[in-house]
Amino acid sequence: MAKKLWGGRFKKKTDKDFFEFQKSIQYDHKLAKYDIAHSLIHVLALGSTGVLKPKEKAKLVKSIQKIQDEIAAGKFKYDKDSEDIHTDIQNKVEKKIGKLALKLHTLRSRNDQIVFDEKFYCYEESTKIEGLLEKFMESIMFLKNRYRELSIVGYTHTQGAQKIYFKDYLGAFYCMFERDKKRLSSFLKNLEIHIGAGALLRNIKKENYGKAIKEFLKGANYPIKPSENTVDDVSDRDFIIEFLSILSIMQMHLSRLSEDFILYSTKEFGFFELPEEFCTGSSLMPHKKNPDFLELVRGYTGRIYGNLFSILTTMKGLPLTYNRDMQLDKEPLFSSVETVKDEIAIMSRFIKGVRLNKDIIKESLKDKNLYSVDRAKDLVKQGMSFRQAHDEIGRELRKK
Ligand code: ARG
Repeated sequence: MAKKLWGGRFKKKTDKDFFEFQKSIQYDHKLAKYDIAHSLIHVLALGSTGVLKPKEKAKLVKSIQKIQDEIAAGKFKYDKDSEDIHTDIQNKVEKKIGKLALKLHTLRSRNDQIVFDEKFYCYEESTKIEGLLEKFMESIMFLKNRYRELSIVGYTHTQGAQKIYFKDYLGAFYCMFERDKKRLSSFLKNLEIHIGAGALLRNIKKENYGKAIKEFLKGANYPIKPSENTVDDVSDRDFIIEFLSILSIMQMHLSRLSEDFILYSTKEFGFFELPEEFCTGSSLMPHKKNPDFLELVRGYTGRIYGNLFSILTTMKGLPLTYNRDMQLDKEPLFSSVETVKDEIAIMSRFIKGVRLNKDIIKESLKDKNLYSVDRAKDLVKQGMSFRQAHDEIGRELRKK
């Protein structure tokens, strides 16, 4: 058990099993980079209030920046015996500069740190997902253009309906992902990363944080702001729920695309040929080429929806303000973000390797049923009512 950020009030030692049960370092270490940002801004704010003398401030900043460099270089190693990432960083600063490190947490609360870290994480990750999505949409465009002249069977109810252009079929997915991207941009536009909420009440003036943020950002463009309503800041996780909702909708689109491609690549349909690099074989049946990537994408939908519902449910009955229940928001958040990123990165390459079997598609377009509406239109042109034409052609096509 590493040194804790609390303890003075307790006579008895924390139960070992309980300590293991409650710690979060095993996943919140992923927030190290953002927690460092919080520490830097906080130290600058403490400097401007006079709590830290200029020399102390400089020393603290330097030691925190060293950890920041370790993180950037991929050399940061978290102590798995720490309670959480906030404690771990505090302990690491102490190791570097000794007792002065104990001033780092002055008038600060982990309730403020964690929500700052998570908002910052969401901001950066949704920016990354936006970029990946853009590439993925380019790949869709690539496949769409490769077969821009081609027509295919369009389905309703999974029954042949009418002949449609492949570019319109695939373009439909493009439109869906374009809306997903818009949802992400609007999420990003509204997201503010607040700092200075304390445990639930402001302890350091907004102005001091304002100055500190400016000093920290040095013109960089992150939407970091001093907390407006500190009670709100430590209480809500709606930004995570919103982010996971957007990812769930995106996942639903990915899943439907996967389902279509699985179906159209079966021997029974035979329209699509899937890129071999993304398929697997069977240990028993030599002939098999299975669409495992698409099946896994479709399968992950359960988890992505589950992650959203997990946080929605955790939050539903919590009394204001912070409650430890909220610690459980991190694994679902990380899980959805990491899965969706992997999926769209691979999907971008997958889509480019899809080939269409023009001969089989041509054959499938010979089905007379696909042109029943055109034939009805012809009869209508000759003066027949549409209902009568519909009836007549229906009877003609009826299986005897
Ligand atoms: N690990 C906590 C979480 O993720 C950090 C905040 C802890 N606050 C507290 N008062 N114990 O929510």
